[in-house]
Amino acid sequence: MKIGVIGTGTMGSGIAQVFIEKGYEVILNGISESEIKNGFNIIDKNLDRKVKKEKITLEDKEAILEKLNICVEIDELKECDIVVEAIVENMEVKKELFKKLDEVVKEDTILATNTSSLSITEIALSTKRPDKVIGMHFFNPAPVMKLVEIIEGVASSQETVDKVHELCNQISKDPVMVKEAPGFIVNRILVPMINEAIGILGDGIATKEEIDKAMKLGAGHPMGPLELSDLIGNDVVLFIMEVLHKEFGDDKYRPHTLLKKMVRGNLLGRKTKNGFYKY
Ligand code: CAA
Repeated sequence: MKIGVIGTGTMGSGIAQVFIEKGYEVILNGISESEIKNGFNIIDKNLDRKVKKEKITLEDKEAILEKLNICVEIDELKECDIVVEAIVENMEVKKELFKKLDEVVKEDTILATNTSSLSITEIALSTKRPDKVIGMHFFNPAPVMKLVEIIEGVASSQETVDKVHELCNQISKDPVMVKEAPGFIVNRILVPMINEAIGILGDGIATKEEIDKAMKLGAGHPMGPLELSDLIGNDVVLFIMEVLHKEFGDDKYRPHTLLKKMVRGNLLGRKTKNGFYKY
C-alpha cells in the first residue's frame, strides 16, 4: 500500500514519519524544494533522537528513511492508495487541492484530510468521489500521540470508514469515530479550555507558570494549557476558536483578545520561537 502525505509542516512530516516507521512507502509532497527539505529534516531529526536514545539503530533509521520519497509535483501521488492532506487550514486552498488530487489519483484512492476543524463534507464536494473523502485527524506530536479522530462527512462511505479504521490499527493508532461537527471531539473540548486559560492570564488572575502548573498538578494534564497552545500554534488555536464561534454562534467560543493580539504580533509559539514562552 502506498501512502501520500501532502504538507511538510509539523503535522505533515509527523504523519509521514508514522507511516514510514510502520514500513509503508510514503510520498511526501510539499509546495517547494525548500519546504520538502524542511519536512525531511524534521523526520531526520526525530529519528536521530530515537537513535541517540537507543530506541532504534542507525541501520533501522536508514531503512525507515528508504521508505520516504519526497516530491513537489502532485502528479507523483498518482499511484497512492490513500493521500493524507495536512496543508494550511484554508478551505479554498484545500478545495483547490482536492479538486486537483481527484483528477490525478486512481479511481479508488481515498482522500483524507488532517483538518483540525474544517468541514469534511465541504472539502469532499470539490471532488467527484465524496464517498472516498474522510477526516483523519492526528494529534501533535503525531509520532507520539495515540489518537486519530476518524471523521465521517455526510457522504463518506462505510467502506472508506472501515479502510481508514483498519489503516489506523496497522499504524498502532487508536482511533475514535466522529460524525462531522465543528471541532470534532478533542478540539471542541481542548481549545475552549486553552482560550479560557488565556483569559485567566489576560485578566491578570495568575501568571502563565501558575496557570500551567495548576492544570498539570490539579487536572493531571501532561502539559499546561499555555505551553500546549505554544505547541499547537497560537494561530491554529485562534483559527479553531473562530470556527467554533462562527459555527455555533455562541459567545462562550469568542476568542480572547490576548490570543488575537499575540497572533497579530506573530507570537505563534514554538514555530516562531516566541509565544507564551520563549524557545
Ligand atoms: N516529535 C516527536 N516525538 C516527540 C516530540 C515531538 N515534537 N516531543 C516529544 N517526543 C517524544 C520523545 O522523544 C519521547 O519519546 P520516547 O518515549 O520514545 O523517548 C516521548 O515523546 C515523550 O517525550 P518527553 O519524555 O520528552 O516528554 P513528555 O513525557 O513530557 O512528553 C508530550 C511530551 C508527548 C508532548 C507530552 O507532554 C504530551 O502528551 N503533551 C500533550 C500533547 C497534546 O495534548 N497534544 C494534542 C494537541 S491538540 C492537536 O494536536 C489537535 C489539533 O488539531 C490542534
